[in-house]
Parts: sequence; structure tokens; C-alpha cells
Amino acid sequence: MSDRRNVAPNDLEAFWMPFTANRQFKKAPRLFVGAKDMRYTTNDGREVLDGTAGLWCVNAGHCRPKITEAIREQAGELDYAPAFQLGHPKAFELANRLVDLAPKGMGHVFYTNSGSESVDTALKMALAYHRVRGEGGRFRLIGRERAYHGINFGGTSVGGIVTNRKMFGTLLTGVDHIPHTHLPDQNAFTRGEPEHGLHLANELERVVALHDPSTVAAVIVEPVAGSTGVLIPPKGYLKRLREICDKHGILLIFDEVITGFGRLGTPFAADYFGVTPDIMTTAKGLTNGVIPMGAVLVKDEIHDAFMNGPEHMIEFMHGYTYSGNPIASAAALATLETYQDEGLLTRAAELSDYWAEGLHSLKDCPHVIDIRNLGLIGAIELESLPGEPTKRAFNAFLKAYESGLLIRTTGDIIALSPPLIISKAEIDELFDKLRTVLMNNI
Ligand SMILES: Cc1ncc(COP(=O)(O)O)c(C=O)c1O
Repeated sequence: MSDRRNVAPNDLEAFWMPFTANRQFKKAPRLFVGAKDMRYTTNDGREVLDGTAGLWCVNAGHCRPKITEAIREQAGELDYAPAFQLGHPKAFELANRLVDLAPKGMGHVFYTNSGSESVDTALKMALAYHRVRGEGGRFRLIGRERAYHGINFGGTSVGGIVTNRKMFGTLLTGVDHIPHTHLPDQNAFTRGEPEHGLHLANELERVVALHDPSTVAAVIVEPVAGSTGVLIPPKGYLKRLREICDKHGILLIFDEVITGFGRLGTPFAADYFGVTPDIMTTAKGLTNGVIPMGAVLVKDEIHDAFMNGPEHMIEFMHGYTYSGNPIASAAALATLETYQDEGLLTRAAELSDYWAEGLHSLKDCPHVIDIRNLGLIGAIELESLPGEPTKRAFNAFLKAYESGLLIRTTGDIIALSPPLIISKAEIDELFDKLRTVLMNNI
């Protein structure tokens, strides 16, 4: 293996980095040049403990042999097959594996390349589903305040993070939002699902009534809102959304891009909460983050509604050049195998009490105003620096990075979501490092 130390980049200017403070980054770049299991290696040869599974995606840890080997092999055997009107075996094999893992009745899979594409696919599917059934008047989509559903136009429209929306004009029309579920006055420092906030699900009734139920196609929510700073649904909240959707013939979409593949100790959040959506979006952990790929899982009734008309006609005018790409499919199959071999889809359930204990032990650190957790997810909300929102958490991010720990921040919230292979000793290390950061005048 080549010596990765002091690998210097040439010029940083040309790459306009996504969701990054470009000018600040380029003055003091943070570069990873290697990774193995729970740790990254930086270009100056330091190890960084991964407290975020990359971007909530590397659920099995880094550079896992089965996945690496599957990609290598597939790249030498069949690199690409056209996705339209043609196929290759692994895409079908993967769809079957996903259906086996999915909640009962979700018997079909549509491939994308990212979470954002999964979301836009799901929204289009919902609109088209109503139309093929002769209910084209159902054109409205309902999202939620503070939601993150990726960055394409559909996902941005149903999303509820103001800074992600405000630059981009009118977005999709016919979209409304229900309230977020963050109630810090009542729920601060709750372990697991909060007691208060079920009534917020009833807001869906109000919004649906405002527009008339017959105009509403679908409601989309993240079962646990991640990118907005980890909002755990109040007890009974998702069940109530399901009931309201059923009552009015509205499709319920769960965006499982971060909760899918074991994050809560079950294959999907739908399993954890005992609520089955009509459509489920996934990406990230599907390939362990190694190769871009997403999958939309769909109830049979929805798929079947499209299967009419002349058989030579395309039933759903949608798809991507790389839908079910052979290398991505091989990576996903090897990822699912790794999850299965190592029991990773249920590991978070075994670790969640230990995780919660370590996380909530930080309650006494300065400026901590809330801590919340579920499965292997944690969040620490900090009091903002006066007049400088986001800066305190970003300072914590920079100090953590310097001290060998990767955390993620959004607003003044630190979000944690380590690879599911994390050991108890590594959980201790993570929270020890984080305590030092939080005590260090941020
Ligand atoms: C819930 C959710 N949906 C969609 C996305 C978008 O995924 P991608 O960045 O792969 O487009 C994310 C990304 O963090 C997400 O958390």
C-alpha cells in the first residue's frame, strides 16, 4: 500500500464543494485519504474516529472486504448494462433481497442513485398512482417543517429547512407542511421517544381539511428527522399519521434514507415503529455508502395499479441511466450480506442503552440545552452563541476533528450516528473525546 501520509492536494479552487463553507475550508482543508472499519486517516497521518458513519451511510464501517471485493469483481465482469428495456441479473437478485427485508406487502423496488432521487421518484410515483386510478385530482403533496428530503426540486419543496428552500423560487406548487415535532420545553433530555407531541399528528387532519382530502396525493415524513438535528417522533405520532392517511385515501411515504438498514436496531424504522408506509425511500446504507445507489420500495397495490394498458407500452415514464447499475447492485448485495453475516441490522438494539447512557452523561457540559437519542442516533443541542447561530456547534466540529473525532452539526445541534459495528470501548472513546471538546470553551 502506498504511504498516505502528507498527501498534498494540488489546487483546491476548482472544486465547488457541496454544503460546505468553501472559503473557510480551503484556508484550512480537512482531507481524508484512507479509512478502515471505525476510523478515517487524514492526509497528515492522523486517525479520526467516525462518529457519523460518513454521512449516515457507512453502516458496516469502512472498506469492508466483501463489499470491496464484490465491486472489484463486478467491474471486471459487467461494468454497465443499459437500464431501460434491458437488464442484468444482479439488479433482480437485489430487488428480491430488498423485498425479503422490507415490511410485508412492499413487494416492488425502483432504483435510483441517491436519497434525493429516491424522494423525487416516490413523489412522482404517488402522483402518477392516483392518476392511473382515475384520481388525478389528487395532486397535493404534504411535507413537514424542518424536514430534509434531499435537494432536488421535489424534495426541497416538501422539505422544511428554510435555508435550503429560500434561494430557489417558488419550488413545486400544491405543497403544504405540517408542524415539526420539536418541543424542547416539554421533551428536553428525553431518552427514546418523547411523551409529548402526539397532538401534532392531528395537524395533518387540519391541513388535509383545508385543501379537501380529495386533492391530497401523499404525505412524506422522515420517521426520525435526521438532518434537521435529530427529532425523534413523539409516542404514537407515526401511527396517528397512518390512520389519518388511511381515512382519506392518502399515501404515506416514509423517507428512510438515514433510518433504513439498521440505524434503529431493526431493518427499517417502519419495523421499529410498527407502522408500514405505502412507499419507502432508501439510499445511503443500501451500499454502505460506497457506491451511489437508492431504492424506492413500494406496496404491491401501487405497483400493480400501473400494470395495465398494452403490454408493449412503458408503464411509468421515469428512470435513471444508472438505475440498478451492475456495480452498485453488486455493492448492495455484498452490503446486505455483510449486514446479515454480522447481525448489523439488529445490533443498534443491543447497543442503544449503552449508547444512551454515554450520550446523556454529557448533560452537565456547558451550553447543553437538550440531548435526544434513539437506536444508534444521538443529538446534543447547544445554546447558540449570542448573535452567531450555528457557530458554537461548528466550533465543536472543528475541535472534535482536531482531537480525532468526526461529528456532524446542523444549526447548533451535534448529530451522532456511528457505524453499527462500533464497540462499547469505541462508544466510551467517542463520548470521552466529545466531553473534552464541550468542556473546552467552545
Ligand atoms: C432523510 C433524507 N432524505 C434524503 C436525503 C438525500 O440523500 P442524498 O444526499 O443521497 O441525495 C438525505 C440525506 O441526508 C436524508 O437524510
